[in-house]
Amino acid sequence: MFAQAKVLRFSTFFMDAPVLIAVEMSQYKTVVEELLKGRELSLEDVDRLRNYPNIQSIGAAVENLILSAFDLGYGACWLSGLLIARDELEQILGIKNPNILAACVAIGKPREINKQREKKNFDEIFKLVE
Ligand SMILES: Cc1cc2nc3c(=O)[nH]c(=O)nc-3n(C[C@H](O)[C@H](O)[C@H](O)COP(=O)(O)O)c2cc1C
Repeated sequence: MFAQAKVLRFSTFFMDAPVLIAVEMSQYKTVVEELLKGRELSLEDVDRLRNYPNIQSIGAAVENLILSAFDLGYGACWLSGLLIARDELEQILGIKNPNILAACVAIGKPREINKQREKKNFDEIFKLVE
């Protein structure tokens, strides 16, 4: 029950935020698609081969957005929990196939600055290959 309440809060607290930014992902073609033309690969196959550059770009964009918001004195939270209602949200926002709602970012004035969680040791997350 505790887990359920936590997930519910995680997925719905954006409703209290003064601003919610919806991040829409569109498809774009690069030279790689041109090279793969005629190989009978689906969009999903090509995406897998390229290791989902669209999603990677969205990650970078959202991170930059959150850092900029913080720089300007705002608090921001990356949200993917609400995507459980993706179909309904895309309809409300007018996002049409092949575009998708990739993420949302809630923005507001922070009441307080939270203490950062303890970070892992550098050695735990970094491996030098010589
Ligand atoms: C991809 C991604 C999705 C997230 N989705 C949610 C979400 O749906 N709801 C939420 O409250 N926080 C969400 N967060 C924010 C995290 O819960 C957490 O606040 C954030 O990663 C910073 O915490 P940390 O510095 O301890 O990692 C998300 C973060 C990431 C990176």
